[in-house]
Amino acid sequence: MVKKPVVSNPFKPSAGHLPPILIGRDGVLDDFLEGLDDGSGAPGRLMRVTGARGVGKTVLLAEFRRIAEERGWLTISETASKGMAQRLLDHLKPAKGTFEFTVEPSVNAFGVGGSLGAMRYERQRMPLDLRDAMSLRLDALERRDAGLLVTVDEVQAADRDDMVAIATAMQHMVSDDRNVAFVFAGLPSMASKWLNDEVMTFLRRAQPERLGDVGLMEVSDALHDSFRQTGIVLDGEPLRIAAEATAGYPFMIQLVGYSIWRIANRSRRGDGDAVVSEEDAHRGVRDALSRLGDTVHGPELDGLSPVDKTYLLAMAQDDGPASTSVVAQRMGKSVKYASRYRMRLLEAQVIVDKGYGKVDFAIPYLREYLREHAAFIRMSLER
Ligand SMILES: Nc1ncnc2c1ncn2[C@@H]1O[C@H](COP(=O)(O)OP(=O)(O)OP(=O)(O)O)[C@@H](O)[C@H]1O
Ligand SMILES: [Mg+2]
Repeated sequence: MVKKPVVSNPFKPSAGHLPPILIGRDGVLDDFLEGLDDGSGAPGRLMRVTGARGVGKTVLLAEFRRIAEERGWLTISETASKGMAQRLLDHLKPAKGTFEFTVEPSVNAFGVGGSLGAMRYERQRMPLDLRDAMSLRLDALERRDAGLLVTVDEVQAADRDDMVAIATAMQHMVSDDRNVAFVFAGLPSMASKWLNDEVMTFLRRAQPERLGDVGLMEVSDALHDSFRQTGIVLDGEPLRIAAEATAGYPFMIQLVGYSIWRIANRSRRGDGDAVVSEEDAHRGVRDALSRLGDTVHGPELDGLSPVDKTYLLAMAQDDGPASTSVVAQRMGKSVKYASRYRMRLLEAQVIVDKGYGKVDFAIPYLREYLREHAAFIRMSLER
Protein backbone atom coordinates (compact mmCIF):
# COMPACT_ATOMS: atom_id res chain seq x y z
CA MET A 1 0.00 0.00 0.00
CA VAL A 2 1.26 3.46 -0.86
CA LYS A 3 1.37 5.62 2.20
CA LYS A 4 -0.26 9.00 1.94
CA PRO A 5 2.47 11.64 2.31
CA VAL A 6 1.90 13.98 5.20
CA VAL A 7 2.05 17.52 3.97
CA SER A 8 1.27 20.29 6.40
CA ASN A 9 -0.79 23.31 5.57
CA PRO A 10 1.62 25.96 4.26
CA PHE A 11 -0.60 28.88 5.23
CA LYS A 12 -0.20 30.59 8.57
CA PRO A 13 -3.25 32.53 9.58
CA SER A 14 -1.98 33.78 12.91
CA ALA A 15 -0.46 37.05 14.02
CA GLY A 16 3.25 37.45 13.47
CA HIS A 17 3.75 34.07 11.77
CA LEU A 18 6.06 34.14 8.80
CA PRO A 19 3.93 33.24 5.77
CA PRO A 20 5.22 30.81 3.11
CA ILE A 21 5.70 33.71 0.72
CA LEU A 22 5.99 37.33 1.77
CA ILE A 23 3.82 38.76 -0.96
CA GLY A 24 4.23 42.25 -2.39
CA ARG A 25 6.99 43.43 -0.05
CA ASP A 26 9.94 43.49 -2.46
CA GLY A 27 10.20 47.28 -2.41
CA VAL A 28 10.55 47.63 1.34
CA LEU A 29 12.85 44.60 1.57
CA ASP A 30 15.10 46.17 -1.09
CA ASP A 31 15.19 49.41 0.89
CA PHE A 32 16.29 47.50 3.96
CA LEU A 33 18.94 45.45 2.11
CA GLU A 34 20.28 48.56 0.45
CA GLY A 35 20.53 50.20 3.86
CA LEU A 36 22.62 47.31 5.18
CA ASP A 37 24.89 47.36 2.12
CA ASP A 38 25.35 51.12 2.01
CA GLY A 39 26.71 51.34 5.52
CA SER A 40 25.99 53.64 8.42
CA GLY A 41 23.99 56.72 7.60
CA ALA A 42 22.06 55.04 4.76
CA PRO A 43 18.32 55.88 4.84
CA GLY A 44 17.25 52.22 5.07
CA ARG A 45 19.07 51.94 8.40
CA LEU A 46 16.47 53.98 10.20
CA MET A 47 12.95 53.08 9.22
CA ARG A 48 9.44 53.42 10.48
CA VAL A 49 6.86 50.97 9.20
CA THR A 50 3.18 51.78 9.52
CA GLY A 51 0.02 50.01 8.44
CA ALA A 52 -3.38 48.76 9.60
CA ARG A 53 -3.92 45.67 11.75
CA GLY A 54 -3.05 42.45 9.97
CA VAL A 55 -1.22 44.13 7.11
CA GLY A 56 2.05 42.37 7.96
CA LYS A 57 4.19 44.70 10.08
CA THR A 58 5.31 42.06 12.58
CA VAL A 59 6.27 39.52 9.93
CA LEU A 60 8.19 42.18 8.03
CA LEU A 61 10.23 42.91 11.16
CA ALA A 62 10.87 39.18 11.54
CA GLU A 63 12.09 39.03 7.94
CA PHE A 64 14.40 42.01 8.55
CA ARG A 65 15.90 40.21 11.53
CA ARG A 66 16.35 37.03 9.53
CA ILE A 67 18.23 38.95 6.85
CA ALA A 68 20.43 40.74 9.39
CA GLU A 69 21.19 37.52 11.27
CA GLU A 70 22.19 35.87 8.02
CA ARG A 71 24.89 38.50 7.85
CA GLY A 72 26.05 37.75 11.35
CA TRP A 73 24.41 40.76 12.95
CA LEU A 74 23.06 40.81 16.47
CA THR A 75 19.33 41.50 16.44
CA ILE A 76 17.09 42.54 19.29
CA SER A 77 13.33 42.73 18.97
CA GLU A 78 11.16 44.59 21.42
CA THR A 79 7.41 45.04 21.58
CA ALA A 80 6.38 48.27 23.20
CA SER A 81 5.02 47.92 26.71
CA LYS A 82 5.99 49.35 30.04
CA GLY A 83 9.67 48.98 30.88
CA MET A 84 10.79 48.53 27.28
CA ALA A 85 13.93 50.66 27.62
CA GLN A 86 15.02 48.65 30.65
CA ARG A 87 14.42 45.37 28.82
CA LEU A 88 16.45 46.58 25.89
CA LEU A 89 19.22 47.49 28.28
CA ASP A 90 19.06 44.03 29.86
CA HIS A 91 19.38 42.43 26.43
CA LEU A 92 22.39 44.51 25.59
CA LYS A 93 24.29 43.92 28.78
CA PRO A 94 26.87 41.21 28.54
CA ALA A 95 25.65 38.02 30.17
CA LYS A 96 28.60 37.77 32.54
CA GLY A 97 30.45 40.40 34.51
CA THR A 98 29.28 43.84 35.42
CA PHE A 99 30.75 47.14 34.54
CA GLU A 100 31.51 49.35 37.44
CA PHE A 101 32.06 53.02 37.29
CA THR A 102 34.05 54.56 40.07
CA VAL A 103 32.96 57.87 41.39
CA GLU A 104 35.32 59.40 43.88
CA PRO A 105 34.07 62.73 45.10
CA SER A 106 37.04 64.89 46.01
CA VAL A 107 35.02 67.80 47.31
CA ASN A 108 32.46 67.52 49.97
CA ALA A 109 28.98 68.00 48.63
CA PHE A 110 27.94 70.31 51.41
CA GLY A 111 30.50 72.93 50.48
CA VAL A 112 32.92 74.75 52.74
CA GLY A 113 30.70 75.09 55.75
CA GLY A 114 29.50 71.51 55.67
CA SER A 115 30.46 68.69 57.89
CA LEU A 116 33.61 66.95 56.83
CA GLY A 117 32.11 63.77 58.10
CA ALA A 118 29.87 63.73 55.04
CA MET A 119 32.88 63.37 52.79
CA ARG A 120 33.12 59.71 52.13
CA TYR A 121 35.11 57.86 49.62
CA GLU A 122 33.26 54.98 48.17
CA ARG A 123 32.73 53.10 45.01
CA GLN A 124 29.35 53.77 43.58
CA ARG A 125 27.82 51.56 40.99
CA MET A 126 26.24 53.56 38.28
CA PRO A 127 23.63 52.14 35.99
CA LEU A 128 25.05 51.28 32.67
CA ASP A 129 22.89 53.32 30.38
CA LEU A 130 21.60 52.35 27.00
CA ARG A 131 24.12 54.41 25.12
CA ASP A 132 27.09 52.81 26.87
CA ALA A 133 25.61 49.35 26.58
CA MET A 134 25.05 49.76 22.84
CA SER A 135 28.53 51.15 22.37
CA LEU A 136 30.17 48.28 24.19
CA ARG A 137 28.22 45.70 22.23
CA LEU A 138 29.06 47.45 18.97
CA ASP A 139 32.77 47.54 19.78
CA ALA A 140 32.77 43.76 19.74
CA LEU A 141 30.39 43.40 16.78
CA GLU A 142 32.25 45.86 14.58
CA ARG A 143 35.53 44.06 15.18
CA ARG A 144 34.05 41.17 13.22
CA ASP A 145 32.33 43.38 10.65
CA ALA A 146 28.89 42.82 12.07
CA GLY A 147 26.31 45.25 13.36
CA LEU A 148 23.27 45.62 15.60
CA LEU A 149 19.64 45.70 14.46
CA VAL A 150 16.97 46.78 16.93
CA THR A 151 13.31 46.41 15.96
CA VAL A 152 10.49 47.88 18.03
CA ASP A 153 6.94 46.73 17.32
CA GLU A 154 3.59 48.26 18.41
CA VAL A 155 5.23 51.65 18.82
CA GLN A 156 1.85 53.36 19.11
CA ALA A 157 1.52 51.77 22.56
CA ALA A 158 4.92 52.84 23.89
CA ASP A 159 5.52 54.96 26.98
CA ARG A 160 6.98 58.35 26.23
CA ASP A 161 9.86 57.87 28.68
CA ASP A 162 10.86 54.61 27.03
CA MET A 163 10.76 56.16 23.59
CA VAL A 164 12.82 59.13 24.70
CA ALA A 165 15.47 56.85 26.24
CA ILE A 166 15.67 54.64 23.17
CA ALA A 167 15.56 57.46 20.62
CA THR A 168 18.30 59.34 22.48
CA ALA A 169 20.61 56.31 22.57
CA MET A 170 19.96 55.60 18.92
CA GLN A 171 20.61 59.19 18.02
CA HIS A 172 24.06 58.87 19.57
CA MET A 173 24.82 55.64 17.75
CA VAL A 174 23.82 57.16 14.42
CA SER A 175 25.82 60.34 14.91
CA ASP A 176 28.83 58.28 16.06
CA ASP A 177 28.59 56.41 12.74
CA ARG A 178 28.15 53.06 14.41
CA ASN A 179 27.12 49.96 12.48
CA VAL A 180 23.46 49.99 13.54
CA ALA A 181 19.99 49.76 12.04
CA PHE A 182 16.71 50.61 13.78
CA VAL A 183 13.22 49.79 12.61
CA PHE A 184 10.03 50.94 14.34
CA ALA A 185 6.65 49.54 13.44
CA GLY A 186 3.15 50.40 14.53
CA LEU A 187 -0.34 51.49 13.59
CA PRO A 188 -0.55 54.65 11.51
CA SER A 189 -1.67 56.51 14.64
CA MET A 190 1.92 56.37 15.88
CA ALA A 191 2.58 59.20 13.46
CA SER A 192 0.29 61.54 15.33
CA LYS A 193 1.24 60.21 18.74
CA TRP A 194 5.00 60.54 18.46
CA LEU A 195 6.08 62.45 15.47
CA ASN A 196 4.78 65.80 16.62
CA ASP A 197 6.58 65.46 19.91
CA GLU A 198 9.68 67.63 19.85
CA VAL A 199 11.90 64.93 21.33
CA MET A 200 10.93 62.68 18.48
CA THR A 201 12.68 64.72 15.82
CA PHE A 202 14.94 61.75 15.42
CA LEU A 203 12.09 59.42 14.54
CA ARG A 204 10.73 61.92 12.10
CA ARG A 205 13.91 61.49 10.11
CA ALA A 206 13.28 57.76 9.82
CA GLN A 207 12.39 56.56 6.36
CA PRO A 208 8.61 56.04 6.26
CA GLU A 209 7.36 52.75 4.84
CA ARG A 210 3.59 52.54 4.64
CA LEU A 211 2.40 48.99 4.23
CA GLY A 212 -0.82 48.55 2.34
CA ASP A 213 -2.82 45.86 0.65
CA VAL A 214 -1.09 43.65 -1.87
CA GLY A 215 -1.97 43.62 -5.59
CA LEU A 216 -4.37 40.84 -6.59
CA MET A 217 -2.10 39.62 -9.40
CA GLU A 218 0.66 38.97 -6.90
CA VAL A 219 -1.80 37.30 -4.52
CA SER A 220 -3.01 35.07 -7.32
CA ASP A 221 0.53 34.01 -8.31
CA ALA A 222 1.54 33.34 -4.71
CA LEU A 223 -1.58 31.29 -3.96
CA HIS A 224 -1.09 29.27 -7.12
CA ASP A 225 2.58 28.56 -6.28
CA SER A 226 2.02 27.71 -2.62
CA PHE A 227 -0.67 25.19 -3.57
CA ARG A 228 1.37 23.67 -6.37
CA GLN A 229 4.35 23.15 -4.09
CA THR A 230 2.19 20.95 -1.88
CA GLY A 231 0.67 19.00 -4.75
CA ILE A 232 -2.63 20.81 -5.06
CA VAL A 233 -3.84 22.48 -8.23
CA LEU A 234 -5.47 25.88 -7.76
CA ASP A 235 -6.08 27.50 -11.11
CA GLY A 236 -8.67 29.12 -13.38
CA GLU A 237 -11.97 30.20 -11.85
CA PRO A 238 -11.30 28.71 -8.38
CA LEU A 239 -8.03 30.68 -8.24
CA ARG A 240 -9.83 33.86 -9.26
CA ILE A 241 -12.47 33.35 -6.56
CA ALA A 242 -9.77 32.80 -3.95
CA ALA A 243 -7.58 35.76 -4.92
CA GLU A 244 -10.50 38.16 -5.15
CA ALA A 245 -11.84 37.15 -1.75
CA THR A 246 -8.57 38.16 -0.06
CA ALA A 247 -9.08 41.79 -1.15
CA GLY A 248 -5.26 41.90 -1.03
CA TYR A 249 -5.39 42.00 2.79
CA PRO A 250 -2.42 39.91 3.98
CA PHE A 251 -4.17 38.31 6.94
CA MET A 252 -7.07 37.32 4.69
CA ILE A 253 -4.61 35.83 2.16
CA GLN A 254 -3.50 33.42 4.86
CA LEU A 255 -7.05 32.67 5.98
CA VAL A 256 -8.31 32.00 2.46
CA GLY A 257 -5.25 29.93 1.57
CA TYR A 258 -5.48 27.95 4.79
CA SER A 259 -9.20 27.20 4.49
CA ILE A 260 -9.17 26.18 0.84
CA TRP A 261 -6.02 24.12 1.29
CA ARG A 262 -7.63 22.18 4.13
CA ILE A 263 -10.67 21.32 2.08
CA ALA A 264 -8.60 20.27 -0.96
CA ASN A 265 -6.16 18.25 1.12
CA ARG A 266 -9.01 16.08 2.40
CA SER A 267 -9.95 15.16 -1.13
CA ARG A 268 -6.47 13.89 -2.00
CA ARG A 269 -6.54 10.38 -3.41
CA GLY A 270 -3.72 8.09 -2.32
CA ASP A 271 -0.49 9.96 -2.69
CA GLY A 272 -1.85 11.89 -5.65
CA ASP A 273 -2.57 15.49 -6.33
CA ALA A 274 -5.81 17.26 -5.64
CA VAL A 275 -7.60 19.85 -7.71
CA VAL A 276 -9.53 22.70 -6.12
CA SER A 277 -13.05 22.98 -7.53
CA GLU A 278 -15.18 26.13 -7.63
CA GLU A 279 -17.30 24.67 -4.87
CA ASP A 280 -14.18 24.07 -2.73
CA ALA A 281 -13.08 27.66 -3.33
CA HIS A 282 -16.46 29.09 -2.30
CA ARG A 283 -16.57 26.91 0.80
CA GLY A 284 -13.03 27.92 1.75
CA VAL A 285 -13.83 31.60 1.36
CA ARG A 286 -16.90 31.19 3.59
CA ASP A 287 -14.79 29.52 6.29
CA ALA A 288 -12.14 32.21 5.97
CA LEU A 289 -14.70 34.97 6.35
CA SER A 290 -16.12 33.50 9.50
CA ARG A 291 -12.63 33.16 10.98
CA LEU A 292 -11.88 36.73 9.96
CA GLY A 293 -14.98 37.79 11.86
CA ASP A 294 -13.96 35.85 14.97
CA THR A 295 -10.33 36.93 14.99
CA VAL A 296 -10.40 40.46 13.60
CA HIS A 297 -13.87 42.01 13.48
CA GLY A 298 -15.17 40.69 16.79
CA PRO A 299 -12.14 41.75 18.88
CA GLU A 300 -11.91 45.08 17.05
CA LEU A 301 -15.56 45.86 17.90
CA ASP A 302 -15.16 44.67 21.48
CA GLY A 303 -12.60 47.40 22.00
CA LEU A 304 -14.96 50.15 20.90
CA SER A 305 -17.52 52.17 22.83
CA PRO A 306 -21.28 51.76 22.26
CA VAL A 307 -21.49 55.06 20.33
CA ASP A 308 -18.52 54.05 18.15
CA LYS A 309 -20.43 50.90 17.24
CA THR A 310 -23.61 52.86 16.52
CA TYR A 311 -21.57 55.03 14.17
CA LEU A 312 -20.24 51.97 12.36
CA LEU A 313 -23.69 50.39 12.11
CA ALA A 314 -24.98 53.62 10.54
CA MET A 315 -22.09 53.54 8.04
CA ALA A 316 -22.70 49.91 7.15
CA GLN A 317 -26.06 50.78 5.62
CA ASP A 318 -24.20 52.09 2.57
CA ASP A 319 -22.56 49.86 -0.03
CA GLY A 320 -19.59 52.23 -0.41
CA PRO A 321 -18.18 55.31 1.34
CA ALA A 322 -20.70 56.96 3.66
CA SER A 323 -21.42 60.66 3.96
CA THR A 324 -20.65 61.87 7.49
CA SER A 325 -23.76 64.05 7.61
CA VAL A 326 -25.99 61.15 6.55
CA VAL A 327 -24.36 58.99 9.25
CA ALA A 328 -25.15 61.66 11.86
CA GLN A 329 -28.74 61.76 10.63
CA ARG A 330 -29.07 57.99 10.88
CA MET A 331 -27.72 58.16 14.42
CA GLY A 332 -30.27 60.88 15.21
CA LYS A 333 -27.46 63.18 16.36
CA SER A 334 -25.92 66.48 15.30
CA VAL A 335 -23.04 66.49 12.83
CA LYS A 336 -20.85 68.00 15.56
CA TYR A 337 -21.67 65.19 18.00
CA ALA A 338 -21.08 62.50 15.37
CA SER A 339 -17.78 64.02 14.27
CA ARG A 340 -16.25 63.29 17.68
CA TYR A 341 -16.82 59.61 17.08
CA ARG A 342 -15.64 59.88 13.49
CA MET A 343 -12.32 61.26 14.83
CA ARG A 344 -12.02 58.44 17.35
CA LEU A 345 -12.68 55.79 14.73
CA LEU A 346 -10.20 57.37 12.31
CA GLU A 347 -7.59 57.41 15.05
CA ALA A 348 -8.29 53.75 15.84
CA GLN A 349 -7.81 52.91 12.13
CA VAL A 350 -11.24 51.34 11.88
CA ILE A 351 -12.36 53.81 9.23
CA VAL A 352 -10.56 55.96 6.68
CA ASP A 353 -11.21 59.47 5.43
CA LYS A 354 -12.24 59.42 1.78
CA GLY A 355 -12.37 63.22 1.44
CA TYR A 356 -15.40 65.34 0.51
CA GLY A 357 -17.08 64.52 3.81
CA LYS A 358 -17.02 60.79 3.23
CA VAL A 359 -15.62 57.91 5.26
CA ASP A 360 -15.20 54.21 4.55
CA PHE A 361 -14.22 51.07 6.44
CA ALA A 362 -10.49 50.49 6.79
CA ILE A 363 -10.81 46.75 7.49
CA PRO A 364 -11.98 44.46 4.69
CA TYR A 365 -15.39 42.85 5.16
CA LEU A 366 -16.17 44.84 8.30
CA ARG A 367 -19.23 46.24 6.53
CA GLU A 368 -20.52 42.74 5.79
CA TYR A 369 -19.75 41.58 9.32
CA LEU A 370 -21.66 44.52 10.82
CA ARG A 371 -24.67 43.87 8.60
CA GLU A 372 -24.73 40.22 9.45
CA HIS A 373 -24.41 40.85 13.17
CA ALA A 374 -26.37 44.12 13.34
CA ALA A 375 -29.22 42.70 15.39
CA PHE A 376 -26.88 41.13 17.91
CA ILE A 377 -24.68 44.23 18.19
CA ARG A 378 -27.72 46.51 18.75
CA MET A 379 -29.03 44.17 21.40
CA SER A 380 -25.72 44.19 23.24
CA LEU A 381 -25.69 48.00 23.08
CA GLU A 382 -28.99 48.17 24.93
CA ARG A 383 -27.86 45.92 27.72
N1 LIG B 1 3.33 40.07 2.73
C1 LIG B 1 2.56 39.09 3.18
N2 LIG B 1 2.20 38.07 2.37
C2 LIG B 1 1.43 37.07 2.81
N3 LIG B 1 0.97 36.98 4.06
C3 LIG B 1 1.29 37.94 4.93
C4 LIG B 1 2.10 39.04 4.53
N4 LIG B 1 2.26 39.85 5.60
C5 LIG B 1 1.58 39.29 6.59
N5 LIG B 1 1.00 38.15 6.23
C6 LIG B 1 0.17 37.29 7.10
O1 LIG B 1 -0.84 38.14 7.64
C7 LIG B 1 -1.04 37.86 9.03
C8 LIG B 1 -0.83 39.12 9.85
O2 LIG B 1 0.52 39.54 9.80
P1 LIG B 1 1.16 40.38 11.00
O3 LIG B 1 0.85 39.75 12.29
O4 LIG B 1 2.58 40.63 10.65
O5 LIG B 1 0.34 41.76 10.86
P2 LIG B 1 0.53 43.09 11.71
O6 LIG B 1 0.53 44.22 10.74
O7 LIG B 1 1.69 42.98 12.61
O8 LIG B 1 -0.83 43.14 12.52
P3 LIG B 1 -1.12 43.80 13.96
O9 LIG B 1 -1.21 45.29 13.73
O10 LIG B 1 -2.44 43.21 14.36
O11 LIG B 1 0.00 43.43 14.87
C9 LIG B 1 -0.12 36.71 9.38
O12 LIG B 1 -0.87 35.53 9.32
C10 LIG B 1 0.92 36.72 8.29
O13 LIG B 1 1.39 35.42 8.03
MG1 LIG C 1 1.87 42.95 14.67
